[in-house]
Amino acid sequence: MTLCEQLPRGEFREGCIPVLETTRLTLRAPRLEDAKAVAALANDRRIAENTARIPHPYKLADAKGFIGGANASDKESVFLVTARNGADKGSILGACGVTIMDGDAPELGYWLGVPYWGKGYATEALHAVIDYAFDTLGHDLLNAGARVTNPASRRVLEKCGFQWTGVGLYRINAIKSSAPIDRFRLERGIWSAIKAWHPSKRVM
Ligand SMILES: CC(C)(COP(=O)(O)OP(=O)(O)OC[C@H]1O[C@@H](n2cnc3c(N)ncnc32)[C@H](O)[C@@H]1OP(=O)(O)O)[C@@H](O)C(=O)NCCC(=O)NCCS
Repeated sequence: MTLCEQLPRGEFREGCIPVLETTRLTLRAPRLEDAKAVAALANDRRIAENTARIPHPYKLADAKGFIGGANASDKESVFLVTARNGADKGSILGACGVTIMDGDAPELGYWLGVPYWGKGYATEALHAVIDYAFDTLGHDLLNAGARVTNPASRRVLEKCGFQWTGVGLYRINAIKSSAPIDRFRLERGIWSAIKAWHPSKRVM
């Protein structure tokens, strides 16, 4: 059994998940001591209603459950997005990751705390996760979805090179209902071509 295969729920798995650095961000595995900050940021209906699993209200217990269950198997790589520099250095800005669901291609998930929207952080964080998913995890295809009412998320995916493939439905925990989504995918060939064309900056 490798270190990153299935571990008992709650067992600390930080060693399985690398630290990813970008120009402005550090992506790292969540730790239990992050729960308070995660709860404070995630407890916003605008985040919950645009993600599948985040409940609203989002309590400290929800953050502890999220962190305790994160990276429980090698089907999931969950990162907290933290500030690398400046006044916010070390602060938690949000979360992102890649998860294999039901044998399908891995799916990207991401959210940022509302005070950090509109600064390009989500795009910067996803570039790092996408590179990790193709380079290190060896995936050949990534899926993502965004509610049709969420143009910011769709734009982030487009900036990362994702292509629209159609529509679907997501079950949204916070609204206890399903909602229409746009589906996107990024194939390894497209990612490689973009990287070759713009290796330092990745896709913009
Ligand atoms: C979606 C989300 C992650 C975006 O984070 P962010 O850091 O603000 O994203 P970025 O700054 O990297 O990029 C946002 C892009 O959307 C654009 N945008 C924002 N609001 C928009 C709107 N109403 N209509 C069109 N474009 C919009 C921005 O202009 C920017 O594009 P640009 O760089 O071409 O100008 C953030 O809003 C969030 O966490 N939302 C709630 C959770 C969520 O939606 N998660 C995604 C699940 S699918």
